[in-house]
Amino acid sequence: MSGIAGVKQRSLLSRLFRTKNLDKILADSANQEHQLKKTLTAFDLVIFGVGAMIGAGIFVLTGAAAAGSDGHLAAGPALTLSFVLTGIICSFCALCYSEFSAMAPISGSAYTYAFSTMGEFVAWIIGWALVLEYAVGNMAVAVGWTGSIKAFLASTWHVAIPSWMVSNTIDTVSPEGLSGVDMSIVLQKIPFVIPFTDMQQVLLIQKAFNLPAFLIVWAVTALLIRGVSESASTAAVMVFTKTTVVLLFIAVGALFLFGGHMDVLQTNWFAHGWKTFAPNGLPGIVTGASTIFFAYIGFDAVSTAAEETKNPQRDIPIGIMGSLAICTLLYILVTSVITGIVPLHQINKEAAVVGAINFMGYPWASWMISVGAIAGLTSVLLVLQMGGTRIFYSIARDGLLPKALAKVHPKFQTPHICTILMGLFVALGSGLLPINLLAEMCNIGTLGAFMIVCIGVAILRFTDPDRKRPFRAPFGILFPALGTIGCIYVMSGLPTFTWVVTGAWFLLGMALYFGYGIWNSNLNQEEELEVELLS
Ligand code: ALA
Repeated sequence: MSGIAGVKQRSLLSRLFRTKNLDKILADSANQEHQLKKTLTAFDLVIFGVGAMIGAGIFVLTGAAAAGSDGHLAAGPALTLSFVLTGIICSFCALCYSEFSAMAPISGSAYTYAFSTMGEFVAWIIGWALVLEYAVGNMAVAVGWTGSIKAFLASTWHVAIPSWMVSNTIDTVSPEGLSGVDMSIVLQKIPFVIPFTDMQQVLLIQKAFNLPAFLIVWAVTALLIRGVSESASTAAVMVFTKTTVVLLFIAVGALFLFGGHMDVLQTNWFAHGWKTFAPNGLPGIVTGASTIFFAYIGFDAVSTAAEETKNPQRDIPIGIMGSLAICTLLYILVTSVITGIVPLHQINKEAAVVGAINFMGYPWASWMISVGAIAGLTSVLLVLQMGGTRIFYSIARDGLLPKALAKVHPKFQTPHICTILMGLFVALGSGLLPINLLAEMCNIGTLGAFMIVCIGVAILRFTDPDRKRPFRAPFGILFPALGTIGCIYVMSGLPTFTWVVTGAWFLLGMALYFGYGIWNSNLNQEEELEVELLS
């Protein structure tokens, strides 16, 4: 069989599973003309991880997850257990991320790992999932940002912004959903009945637009186009502010409880025994876990800093595991304070932490915590928007999306086209869509990416057993397997509607890949060149 025939006979399967060689990726990154400066230490990485993690998940989503919301079971005070469960599952995934990133200290994160192990198609899927993680995640953070601004203005100056300007569609409807709406009017407005309440609400209630969320996303986008150099010291100040605020909240809560209010905790947690602590039992805990998983998103971003780390083989695992451990502990304590002090039905679903401090009646602390929450959410917006743009840029540079998108601005040296497109997408989404839906879509994307990283680590143990692994997850493939199962388990707690919307996102991804990426990717161009040279 001639060489040409061999190449021409490349089946669809071989196209889908063509891989980038890991050694070549490593050599390319080492040969780069403008190599990134290696300055980060293990401590910087822990700060970076904590900076990316503490945000809307803990400051906002804890409220709806504990108290329940439309279509979601309340976890109740047992939300603390949801945080334990999710923390454990994330630690399995963190071990896998650590193994991968120590082995391949390059900046593309899970997308690059998948490209080198499972091939182009899986890399595309994971890249598409990561865009979901970063872009849709940021929509949720921006909506949470509005919630914190609202709480801040209300508690400090008693100013209430008109609700049409600070609400997302779903929030304008009572939690009872459409129960008060005349269905005949609904049917006149939409041509068909959609079997999901959420979607009917989204279509029906377009009289609200979240303006602050829309504007903050554009502000962050403008900064990123100009090129914000996230210096370690700036990041450290932001992280210091929000960590201090979280610690202050825990301390104030502890003083309140131990200062003569332990009976409040006793009532809120155990008035009717286990039924009070976990009103919906295990299903409620799993539903809670699948929502607040959002709070853990970000430790994976540590691996994107691998190329800028002095000793990545040692420091990346410390950064990933260290930041995860710190946040898990803080989250459990914060949730204990919120659910211990505020009765379930009085928890503020738009700003759970600020709401709890107001409930205790400390206006000075409320002011400080609101400011900390706003600063914290702004820093997450910046990190996620930058991370998302980086992934988008890598995908376009690999030819899986039009290369024109990967153009770099001549003056600012930033990928401005990717940044603007991402900004537009995130700003519109945050203006129109409800936070729970956004956070959950983001969770599915991220859990999918985590799962693929776990599977990738296991595959490499068999296909490339001799590669040097400076960090190795112990006990064979036990942790990759547990990580995969854990991700599937958490995903199972997400509502059907979120799956349907996410399914639509992935169908769009498939259409783009089979309509464009598979024919235009760099690897395909190389193969075609090979054919030409052989003919
Ligand atoms: N973990 C980040 C947050 O909670 C995404 O905002």
